[in-house]
Amino acid sequence: MQIFQPWTIRNLHFKNRIVMPPMCLFTAGPDGLAHDRHLVHYASRAMGGPSLIIMEATGVLPEGRISGNCLGLWEEPQVTGLARIVGACQREGALMAIQLNHAGRKCEAPANFILGPSALAFGEDYPLPREMSKEDMDRVKEAFCSAALRADRAGFDAIEIHGAHGYLLSSFLSPLANQRKDEYGGSLEKRARFPLEVLEAVRQVWPKEKAILLRLSAVDHHPDGIQLPETVEFVRMARPLIDIVHISSGGNARVPIHVYPGYQLPLAQAVKKETGVPVIAVGLIQTREMAEDILVNGQADFVALGRELLRNPNWVHQNRKEAGLPYEGPDIYRQAFD
Ligand SMILES: Cc1cc2nc3c(=O)[nH]c(=O)nc-3n(C[C@H](O)[C@H](O)[C@H](O)COP(=O)(O)O)c2cc1C
Repeated sequence: MQIFQPWTIRNLHFKNRIVMPPMCLFTAGPDGLAHDRHLVHYASRAMGGPSLIIMEATGVLPEGRISGNCLGLWEEPQVTGLARIVGACQREGALMAIQLNHAGRKCEAPANFILGPSALAFGEDYPLPREMSKEDMDRVKEAFCSAALRADRAGFDAIEIHGAHGYLLSSFLSPLANQRKDEYGGSLEKRARFPLEVLEAVRQVWPKEKAILLRLSAVDHHPDGIQLPETVEFVRMARPLIDIVHISSGGNARVPIHVYPGYQLPLAQAVKKETGVPVIAVGLIQTREMAEDILVNGQADFVALGRELLRNPNWVHQNRKEAGLPYEGPDIYRQAFD
């Protein structure tokens, strides 16, 4: 079966095509430190056999977190707890990535710290962001780079830059959030400038042999938001700087999204076809049959199972067993699956 076939991209030797996408645990404190619960959660998923685990959105600045309970990588003491998790998961055979994020106008931070491309609030119950100055942009770029270096010191195999869900980089790309009149707003080329500058800066400092993933919201599900052709164009611009693109959607507009199994697949498929960049598809992919179809039909190169891996951490072992394939997990579980 394709889903259990290995693949290699740069330093990432995938043992199968199943990825655990980033999912916040909201379990860190104001210090952004990882705790035992993070270790237990991620290590047990690693034992369950996905090839790559992308750890949750992690703030590159304290005031850049989605919530006050998100992990952080803005200072050195945060490396130790993450290194412990990375080591434990790698010993269980998982590749480890971490999603680096600045939550922009959706940050939970004191109002005077909220940054955005333009002074436009996400909603009435969200604070008004400050339109970022060039100095703000330099500071955020620097924070992404420092966090990437710390992620390297923690032993991560890869980083995922969060360019989805209406957070800072995503909001620069979206005409709904970015109404700047300078060289960072307007045409796609201008809206793409800051996200590309961040990617370029990170690529400079991140070890050459290690992969960079980019998560994007391919569409805003809004007529005035970003549309698929622009996302395809953006991925082409980012192509020299990234190894894998992870296609999600939404987050820049408060609109109902029609959700059904594989609802984001056409977006992933189009990005793969039009750009040739390896793609992770995500969004209500739950069954082996569906995951297999996606790969066999060339819609994506990897499938991410989010909530399904929360429900069933041993999805890979269970599905290998049901497909009549030999057990490949930790010896201590062999009797349950062989
Ligand atoms: C509890 C929870 C936390 C999430 N946290 C993040 C996150 O930190 N970063 C991110 O990009 N997406 C996050 N997501 C979105 C997931 O990565 C994934 O795209 C989404 O759940 C759809 O996939 P699924 O249907 O397989 O769960 C989160 C989703 C859930 C359910």
